[in-house]
Amino acid sequence: MASQTQVIINLCFWALLFVMAQGGYAGEVVEYPALTRCRAHTASVTDFGAVGDGKTSNTKAFQAAVAHLAQYSSDGGSLLYVPAGRWLTGPFNLTSAFTLFLHRDAVILASQDINEWRVIDPLPSYGRGRDKAGGRYTSLIMGTNLTDVILTGDNGTIDGQGEFWWQKFHKNQLKYTRGYLVELMYTDQILISNLTFLNSTNWNIHPVYSSNIIVKGITILAPVHSPNTDGINPDSCSNVLIENNYIVSGDDCIAIKSGWDEYGIAFGMPSEHIVIKRLTCISPTSAAIAVGSEMSGGVRNVRAEDITAINTESGVRLKTAIGRGNYIKDIYVRGMNLNTMKWVFWMTGNYKSHPDGKFDPKAIPEVNGISYSNVVAQNVTMAGRLDGIENAPFKGICLSNVTVHMAMKAKKLSWECTNIEGVSKGVSPRPCDALEVQSGRDELTACPFPPERLPIEDIEFKQCSYST
Ligand SMILES: *[C@@H]1O[C@H](CO)[C@@H](O)[C@H](O)[C@H]1NC(C)=O
Ligand SMILES: *[C@@H]1O[C@H](CO)[C@@H](O)[C@H](O)[C@H]1NC(C)=O
Ligand SMILES: *[C@@H]1O[C@H](CO)[C@@H](O)[C@H](O)[C@H]1NC(C)=O
Ligand SMILES: *[C@@H]1O[C@H](CO)[C@@H](O)[C@H](O)[C@H]1NC(C)=O
Ligand SMILES: *[C@@H]1O[C@H](CO)[C@@H](O)[C@H](O)[C@H]1NC(C)=O
Ligand SMILES: *[C@@H]1O[C@H](CO)[C@@H](O)[C@H](O)[C@H]1NC(C)=O
Ligand SMILES: *[C@@H]1O[C@H](CO)[C@@H](O)[C@H](O)[C@H]1NC(C)=O
Repeated sequence: MASQTQVIINLCFWALLFVMAQGGYAGEVVEYPALTRCRAHTASVTDFGAVGDGKTSNTKAFQAAVAHLAQYSSDGGSLLYVPAGRWLTGPFNLTSAFTLFLHRDAVILASQDINEWRVIDPLPSYGRGRDKAGGRYTSLIMGTNLTDVILTGDNGTIDGQGEFWWQKFHKNQLKYTRGYLVELMYTDQILISNLTFLNSTNWNIHPVYSSNIIVKGITILAPVHSPNTDGINPDSCSNVLIENNYIVSGDDCIAIKSGWDEYGIAFGMPSEHIVIKRLTCISPTSAAIAVGSEMSGGVRNVRAEDITAINTESGVRLKTAIGRGNYIKDIYVRGMNLNTMKWVFWMTGNYKSHPDGKFDPKAIPEVNGISYSNVVAQNVTMAGRLDGIENAPFKGICLSNVTVHMAMKAKKLSWECTNIEGVSKGVSPRPCDALEVQSGRDELTACPFPPERLPIEDIEFKQCSYST
């Protein structure tokens, strides 16, 4: 009997100690995912003097924290914790084998002191900034030549405070191209998950010349008329998985790119092996997913599945032009549920933006093998507008199992097609003649979608934890 009482008392003692360690003394237990290994070293941004009052500049604290943790890149890796608070900061760089973790009530606020935004070289595959010729402002959170970089949290927020930049952009008061919220260049193994991105200065998430990238479970919010607030833009990237994301933006929710005209052709790095699943998009003036317009390194093997778009201009849109060169091929789309769209299908071979007058008029992009199946759309102004390039038609376009319900105020003409070739099966309303209607046995064969998964779809995360 006595020993039983002893055991119970002992248990109570240890249970109490455990509860105190979790809650009272050591703080919260934070669970975080890892791609390769749990981080051996951790620090809080407050260890470097950061103040979360929304007013104090923490640029030096973030920079000092990363500089300190960089020593662990080849020694177990590190995690930088951002606790609850409003952390104003200018741009800072990341390091390898590094996790940035934001508490659910942590908000990183982008500085509005333009002197904090250094000017860096344009991307080699673009030759110039997109807003302005010449260099460009650095991105808020930037990484170059890294491996194993994770931005995650418990749905903490990264707020670009974009209004400041949008107004200057509209008034033509900026000397350089606006920076992005996150840019990772030449980086292998990237995970961005469980965060909210607000009011970006320009594009939200820009991996470029990078590989093995997962963007999962994030929310991106920007006013639907804010300039160039694209959601996620893989640019000359390979092996990319973008899944379970919710995006409201003033530009394309996702845009797949690979450099601009002669600069992109010379750089020669395609975007390939890209999977997009379970995207929800609202973007009244742009596409749920755009391929291009800058695609001069080529874009191939893109699979988009379970796409929901509401009040969005178009579904999966192709944008290219003479001078871009290279190709857009093997684009597979399966399962789109769309409501209130201007065009369900939209392809443009005459998207006229060029970096300068030096583009090669003989650099004609090849567009081939574009499949869409299982599409339902409501309240649509025009079902499809498919315009290829004269003497270089877009080929291998396939549409199957498509039901488009036109809006009350729809255009009289549901489809308009020029310079395209392809087939259609089970499409309503009846498509343009260029999409030869297949009937009989062929009608039962859906447009192609590769049966095998890509390796990036089967990555399993390690579950790690630490006490704050
Ligand atoms: C961040 O990295 C970029 C590219 O390597 C570099 O130009 C810039 O000076 C770095 N910024 C800081 C604040 O260290
Ligand atoms: C990153 O790597 C590229 C390609 O290897 C190289 O040209 C560039 O100088 C490197 N940049 C930095 C900042 O290390
Ligand atoms: C994350 O926060 C955003 C913005 O407050 C919210 O819309 C979204 O639903 C949240 N996501 C999760 C998974 O809680
Ligand atoms: C985002 O920016 C818009 C326009 O300036 C502003 O109205 C809105 O409050 C901002 N959102 C947040 C959550 O700060
Ligand atoms: C995202 O958050 C959910 C819910 O908190 C968690 O179960 C999951 O492991 C997280 N995933 C990633 C990849 O961060
Ligand atoms: C249909 O689309 C129009 C805009 O084209 C919009 O004003 C209207 O609210 C939509 N109706 C429904 C039922 O979604
Ligand atoms: C056609 O598409 C609908 C909805 O998009 C889907 O439910 C249905 O299973 C598809 N039919 C075939 C034969 O794949």
